[in-house]
Amino acid sequence: MAPLRVGVVGLRGIGQIHATSHAENPLSDLVAVCDVIKDRADEVAAKHKVKAYTRLQDMLDAHPDLDIVDVCTGGHENGGWHFEPAMMALAAGKNVLVEKPISNDIAEAREMVRFAAEKDVYLGCNLNHYFTEPARLARGLMDEGKIGEQIYCLHRMGFIGGEDIYKRGGGPNFEDFPYSHTKAFLAHPFSLMRHFCGDITHVQAFMDRPGFRRHAGDLMVSIASIHVRFVSGAIGYMFSQRGDATMGMGGWWSFELGGSKGTFVIENCVEKLSYFPAPKPGEKFGLGEQPVPIVTNTGAKDFGITFPSRINAFLEDVSRAVPKNKLRASGRDALATLEYTFAAIESYEQGGALVRPHALPALKRDLKDQ
Ligand SMILES: NC(=O)c1ccc[n+]([C@@H]2O[C@H](COP(=O)([O-])OP(=O)(O)OC[C@H]3O[C@@H](n4cnc5c(N)ncnc54)[C@H](O)[C@@H]3O)[C@@H](O)[C@H]2O)c1
Repeated sequence: MAPLRVGVVGLRGIGQIHATSHAENPLSDLVAVCDVIKDRADEVAAKHKVKAYTRLQDMLDAHPDLDIVDVCTGGHENGGWHFEPAMMALAAGKNVLVEKPISNDIAEAREMVRFAAEKDVYLGCNLNHYFTEPARLARGLMDEGKIGEQIYCLHRMGFIGGEDIYKRGGGPNFEDFPYSHTKAFLAHPFSLMRHFCGDITHVQAFMDRPGFRRHAGDLMVSIASIHVRFVSGAIGYMFSQRGDATMGMGGWWSFELGGSKGTFVIENCVEKLSYFPAPKPGEKFGLGEQPVPIVTNTGAKDFGITFPSRINAFLEDVSRAVPKNKLRASGRDALATLEYTFAAIESYEQGGALVRPHALPALKRDLKDQ
């Protein structure tokens, strides 16, 4: 099968990683790149020997046979510039992969998902944190019945830091937006929780910023403590912070899912999976004792490997023409993470009230499901 023809829009750090991922993947043929900053577009185009554009519409007009537009623009709260290019590409009938968050605006996100369904094209999002070897092995444990009925999940994800290295700012996408961390980042931890535990029905959040941010006049609400309930009845807890502190075990990223048959823990996203089987009849554990875990250490340390891995999954799904409702890390999945994020913000603004996230659009049956 011929590789999928891809154009990448938005070429600062992340767009360049996407462009390289496509250039190196046999399933894709990188044919064009676009950035409103001409020098940036020219530089990336020269590196990959493809065409450069400064306007997406020009790229679409010049390459009517493009299969995929990969949207890596950022903007306010890292999602303010996603809607316009994504909608333009969808209107042209292109399959779209968009960076996370799907948008910083919930109405825009809902419209993107609705419009992709109307155009009957694939809309995927770069929810890359679970396209990893530990997550694949963890899913295997679940499928083999080694976790059993889900009881709880605990997820911590953030940035290493502290008072001594804190710098006010964060660039134009973040500065002066109180919810920039919340909207830009929580797509990741919510995507993990939903990937493993399913839809969330209830959200309760406490958020804050530490004294050193307050004193600096920094508006960013950088600490989020979020308690959730899943459709399954399991409960979950997420803690996230943006460089206010240094996390302990599991470093910047740990995910623990406890079930009636066993518990798994992923540490450092790409690195390590530990499985703790629940006691069998006759086995006894005193206080302070626990089953010996089965540990898989992949040796991977580089979070960057999640980009080509997730992009490859999107290319595979589009190449194989999977039913739209089976697309991995779909626009609808990304919308779910933003609905939960907005529910968490609402809860926080109401002093920790219990909030039920807005319903997701119904999953459409695909003819290919028959
Ligand atoms: N999945 C991940 O792990 C991960 C990690 C970091 C960042 N991100 C996401 O990647 C995205 C990009 O991040 P960044 O730091 O490179 O963003 P950025 O805002 O710094 O850069 C975006 C680029 O897009 C260009 N641009 C903006 N609007 C455009 C348009 N309409 N047409 C063409 N070019 C346009 C800008 O000139 C700029 O070069 C963000 O949405 C961010 O949330 C994802």
